[in-house]
Amino acid sequence: MNNNLSWIDEAYSKSIDKVIKLSKKIGVSFPHVCLDGNYNCEAAHFWTSGFWGGLLWLAYRETKDESLKTIAEEIEKELNVPLHEFYEIHHDVGFMYLPTSVINYTWTGNKESRKSGLIAASHLAGRFNFKGEFIRAWTHRVDPNSTGWAIIDCLMNLPLLFWASKEINDPRFKHIAIAHANTVLKSFVREDWTVPHIVSFDPETGEKIENLGGQGLGPDSAWSRGQSWAIYGFAVAARETGDTKYLTASKNIANYFLSHLPNDKVPYWDFRTAEKDKFVRDSTAAACTASGLLELSTLLTDEIEKTFYYESAIAILKGLYDNYSDFSNAQDAILTKGTVSYPNNKHVNVPIIYGDYYFLEALGKLHGHKGLF
Ligand code: GLY
Repeated sequence: MNNNLSWIDEAYSKSIDKVIKLSKKIGVSFPHVCLDGNYNCEAAHFWTSGFWGGLLWLAYRETKDESLKTIAEEIEKELNVPLHEFYEIHHDVGFMYLPTSVINYTWTGNKESRKSGLIAASHLAGRFNFKGEFIRAWTHRVDPNSTGWAIIDCLMNLPLLFWASKEINDPRFKHIAIAHANTVLKSFVREDWTVPHIVSFDPETGEKIENLGGQGLGPDSAWSRGQSWAIYGFAVAARETGDTKYLTASKNIANYFLSHLPNDKVPYWDFRTAEKDKFVRDSTAAACTASGLLELSTLLTDEIEKTFYYESAIAILKGLYDNYSDFSNAQDAILTKGTVSYPNNKHVNVPIIYGDYYFLEALGKLHGHKGLF
């Protein structure tokens, strides 16, 4: 491995500079994808609405630039609207309120932020299906058939429940997180250590019905971002519980991911894609996996394993920095070529906000900081 790691400092400071520059352009906003060089803006209840606030907090942590904090706090006020309106709320409240309200409270002691985090956790806990022991993902508005659907992404919402349990010294939230994680182990994780995007359960009996392809190629495929959510999500579950079965899952799903990467370290949108579709990449899966591998590495005691996942994370970040980043003024985003949903031809090979978020989070970890999840 190349021991000249000065590119890490370079990537970190250039990414922070880009966040500062973007903050002056978009201010309080809910960017999702960057089209023709400009980030769009979604509604506050959209699942990605916490990532821009998260990026601002990550940049604030390093620079102490008060203008970044002010925008992040304004974003939080906007996020309180869907929280209290309730009807548009879905399981992604972890993605929305962990890198905003929870982190504000953790770093500044803001009591209103604490309350928002706890309300979000209650909404998430309220989506638990007792019979099937899973957290329901979406609402009827997203899909009318989704009453019994759980999705792999939800592992990344569980840290909100673990946080709430610690915060109010009450294990109820943690019990739900553990029950959901165990259902994912049982009903999502296959023998080859891959996972589907969606599993459909009978919401009355709790029986598993089938896997669904969702944003992946199909029910038996390995959608790359889904593998990333599993790697990072199981690592966090292991961190929060100390249970080694989550560690084993995170490691093995990571091994599948790493051994199927193309040479440039950025995965195809689905590891089982047809040859003709290999031009479709997902930089967000690379960035999320890199940050997840750094989390995983901190939990391991075996030096060889620890180093393997740490260096694998660095190799992915280097791949992103060398070939999938743009620090010019040509685009608002940092990374290029993320893919929202290739089966729906929705935002293919475009910059996506959570790619930027996990890239900066991972670089922050390499500078001695913790992640926000
Ligand atoms: N949570 C939806 C996605 O990863 O696109």
